Amino acid sequence: MQLPIYLIGYMAAGKTTVGRLLAERLGWRFVDLDEAFAEIHSQTPAEYIREHGIEEFRYKEKYVLEDLAELPIEKVVYATGGGYPCWEDNMECLKELGTSIYLRWKPQHLAERLMLTDLSTRPVLKGRTKDELLAFITPQLEAREPFYMKADYIIDAPVKDIAPEDDKNIADMLYQIITKQ
Ligand code: S3P
Repeated sequence: MQLPIYLIGYMAAGKTTVGRLLAERLGWRFVDLDEAFAEIHSQTPAEYIREHGIEEFRYKEKYVLEDLAELPIEKVVYATGGGYPCWEDNMECLKELGTSIYLRWKPQHLAERLMLTDLSTRPVLKGRTKDELLAFITPQLEAREPFYMKADYIIDAPVKDIAPEDDKNIADMLYQIITKQ
């Protein structure tokens, strides 16, 4: 498997939680690209988008990932921002740089998982009810899926109801896949 590993997927897919657990178990580094962006630009992605707009954010986000990829460390699990793979040639870049893994969820499960998080940190989702979230997520996920589906691995999350142990189970599954290579 070509390293590093890039976890991709929609907001609340568990990229950060799964990535952290997986890296810990492998004894590798974990880097959250939203956090790296905030450190480099002194603003969270949400703050940056509010001030400079989404296009400017996407350019900056692209270079944060590509600059970090130049570091001579291979054993890293990255959690990418949810929209990163769907901009310009970013998905092709990821595939050249390492192995991409799509954490795939149904829109209703993403809406349920998002309801368990602090929506005030996500300006576009702030104040929405679960039904409103679902109405927002469904078309956006449909537009993003053709990009996400180019990943080297696609991990289908639980088909029934969401559960607190989902992220740990996904991390375990990824650990098995990676260590079997
Ligand atoms: C975004 C997702 C966020 C962050 C930014 C834009 C998106 O990352 O990069 O607010 O367009 O889906 P997470 O997926 O880590 O929440």
